[in-house]
Amino acid sequence: MDFLSCMVLFLVVIWISVHAIYYSFAGRRYSPTRLPPGPNPLPFIGNLLELGSKPHISLTNLSQRHGPILSLRLGHVTTVVVSSSIVAKEVLRTRDQFFCNRTIPDAIQACDHAKYSMPWIPVSAAWRNLRKICNSHLFATKVLDANQANRHLKVQELISEVNESVLKGEAVDIGSAAFKTTLNLMSRTVFSVDLADPNSETAREYKELVWGIMEEIGKPNLADYFPVLKKIDPMGIRRRLANHFQKMIGLFDRMITQRLESRKSRDYVTTKDMLDTLINFCEEKSEDLNMAETEHLFLDLFSAATDTTSGTLEWAMAELLRNPEKLSQVQAELKQIIGKGKPVEESHIARLPYLQAIIKETFRLHPVVPFLLPRKAEVDVEICGYIVPKGAQVLINAWAIGRDPNIWDDPNSFMPERFLDSEIDVLGGNFELIPFGGGRRICPGLPLAMRMLNLMLGSLINSFDDWKLEDGVVPETLNMEEKFGITLAKAQPLIAVPVLHKNLA
Ligand code: HEM
Repeated sequence: MDFLSCMVLFLVVIWISVHAIYYSFAGRRYSPTRLPPGPNPLPFIGNLLELGSKPHISLTNLSQRHGPILSLRLGHVTTVVVSSSIVAKEVLRTRDQFFCNRTIPDAIQACDHAKYSMPWIPVSAAWRNLRKICNSHLFATKVLDANQANRHLKVQELISEVNESVLKGEAVDIGSAAFKTTLNLMSRTVFSVDLADPNSETAREYKELVWGIMEEIGKPNLADYFPVLKKIDPMGIRRRLANHFQKMIGLFDRMITQRLESRKSRDYVTTKDMLDTLINFCEEKSEDLNMAETEHLFLDLFSAATDTTSGTLEWAMAELLRNPEKLSQVQAELKQIIGKGKPVEESHIARLPYLQAIIKETFRLHPVVPFLLPRKAEVDVEICGYIVPKGAQVLINAWAIGRDPNIWDDPNSFMPERFLDSEIDVLGGNFELIPFGGGRRICPGLPLAMRMLNLMLGSLINSFDDWKLEDGVVPETLNMEEKFGITLAKAQPLIAVPVLHKNLA
């Protein structure tokens, strides 16, 4: 059942009586003048209809009318939307301690995920432990330096595959190619295998699975706005998500069980991958590996890494193909620093300021997690003279901040040069540009994502003489429409045609 029909049915059947009473009391708790301003709510459903199919755009438009901090009532849930860097800094840095937990979408209860999942559990000893495990086994500079050969290998495989497509005269689906590379990179780091087998459909199936997860989590869900509906899951979101989760958990369960079996063999040589490291770590403490915790951790890491990284790469390539003069400029930089056709290495990145500027500019215009992940006020918090009430959901509209005309000249144009003489980076200290969020819940995968993005984009550009759009598409008509989930994907896949170096052809 779709969102609108569900809402109508629901309106008629349940809410008229029960929640009229609730709101008549709840409305009195905060004087309307202390809540941030916002559009008038309709009875029962509040402002749900204002969200539309592209909530990041609808809420940006509303912020132009009501200001950088506004409040909405989404069914039962008071929601505060922040659309300026100054207010975002208040929430993510100054008052981080009050906003560091999240409102948890009902869908995340599927397969008990909310109980184990690092992005959703509250700040606690368990959350710190998970962040520590990730930082020490995946994201620390020395770990990333030590396994950069893995990334170079996977990116070289990407280039070889694109070369094959050229020789066969086929165009390349950039998002899918980047997804497969990121998936294999993650699975090599965690399990020492490539999950996306070149001879099978695994990568495509997995991509559909991950997109299914992002889409379901990102969908407005009546059960979130009217908690009385949680039990019946009226839109089927939790049920569908459970199905996706089960498939992924089943896959991880098989990988872990096989590994535990192989380790029993005398000939087993331990690897340095994340799974062996976790098992060794448990053995040192004479504990068994907690299967559920480990499977849910892998589920988070694989779904958080693949869609975001490949989606950003796809947006970056799309912007370059729409702006051929910027593409020429980065080609020239790569040629000068590395040499045309030569492999890009992570050690080159620091000397490629224009390439880095392109990635930042892509994040500014296309933050793939447009509202970050929702935060929740732990207590009543005063922000900019308003009260954000305890329990309110807080959304930071990174998409609106990236296009704020008070911060950015010509905000809708793709102009990487704006970052060349600027100190602004994406590390969470500059609230004008927060694609990875900020404060203690900032994305832990940031260092890996940045290395992957620079490496993949630099390699795709430098390994070919040029890139063109597929037949019949010109830069001016390239479809840049967005598809909203918890991540913001390109609605139409970018299909591009590489032109091979003559000496490689
Ligand atoms: C372009 C790539 C990526 C983007 C734009 C991105 C963005 C984000 C954002 C906006 C958040 C929420 C931060 C907040 O609430 O302030 C987040 C959280 C998270 N990300 Fe990423 N991410 C990316 C890549 C990755 C990768 C590669 C991984 C892991 C391999 C990862 C794992 C996570 C996890 C586990 C969290 C939850 C952290 C917590 O709540 O403590 N992300 N990410």
